[in-house]
Amino acid sequence: MNSPIGVFDSGYGGLTILRQMRQMLPQYDYLYLGDNARAPYGSHSFEIIYRYTLQAVAELFDRGCPLVILACNTASAKALRTIQQNDLPQLDATRRVLGVIRPTVEAVGSLSHTRHVGVLATAGTINSGSYEMELRKLWPDMTVTGQACPMWVPLVENYEFDSPGADYFVQKRIEGILRRDPEIDTLILGCTHYPLLMDKILKYTPPGVRIVPQGEYVAASLRSYLTRHADMQARLSQHGTCRYLTTENAEKFAESASLFMREAVTAEQCRL
Ligand code: DGL
Repeated sequence: MNSPIGVFDSGYGGLTILRQMRQMLPQYDYLYLGDNARAPYGSHSFEIIYRYTLQAVAELFDRGCPLVILACNTASAKALRTIQQNDLPQLDATRRVLGVIRPTVEAVGSLSHTRHVGVLATAGTINSGSYEMELRKLWPDMTVTGQACPMWVPLVENYEFDSPGADYFVQKRIEGILRRDPEIDTLILGCTHYPLLMDKILKYTPPGVRIVPQGEYVAASLRSYLTRHADMQARLSQHGTCRYLTTENAEKFAESASLFMREAVTAEQCRL
C-alpha cells in the first residue's frame, strides 16, 4: 500500500508548493487534496477554517498519508497549531502535520537588506497576525507590513489570473503596500495561490523589490525535516507517483491543474 505525503490546500494554490516538492524530492509518492468546492478560505472565520482543515487532514490520514503538509497559509495560520496540539494525539500521535509559514519566515531573514519586509496574503492570514509574530520572533530587527489581497485567490480559482481585470487588483495591492512602507525591499507571497499571478505581480513591482514565493523554501524545509526524522522517512512510500483529489468537479480540476503543473493530471472527486 502507498503511504504518500499528503498535500492540502483550499484549492489550486498548493500546487505551487507540490510542484517544488516533486522537483526537489521526486522519489516520494504524493496525494494532493484541493477543497475547491469551498474555496476561498481566506475570508472565513477561524472556526470554519479549522473545521474544514481538520476534515481534510482526517481524509488524507484515512487514505494512508503518515505526513500532511498544509500547503495553505490560511490553514497554517488558523488551524495548524490546534490540530498539532489538540487533534493529532487523538487522531494518530505517530503522524505529522506541517505548515508553510515557518519555513518561509526562516528563509526571509537572509533576503532583506533594508530589514523592511511586506507580507501579501489573504485577509485570514493577515488578521491572524501569524507572519508578524513569527517574523518578529525570529528577526526582531525587522519592520513588517501586512497587506490583505482579497481578490487574488478568486482570480486564480476562477482562472482569471491572466485576464486584464487581474491587473487592476494586483497593481492596487502592490502599490498600496509600498506606499505604506517605501523602504520595503522584500515582499513575501504569503498565500500559495499568488505565484500563479506572478507575471502580473512582477509587472507592478519596482526593480529593487524582491518577490519571495514559498515553494522552494517549503520543499527545502521538508527535505531537511525528512533527513532529521528517519522514522518518518522510512514510513513514506517511494514510487514517484502523484494523485489528485478535489471536492469540486474532477474534470474541471484536472484541466486547470494540468496547466498549473505543466503535465497531464487526472483527478478524483472526494467528499469531506
Ligand atoms: N492558498 C491559500 C493560502 O495560502 C488560499 C486561501 C484561500 O482559499 O483563500 O492562504
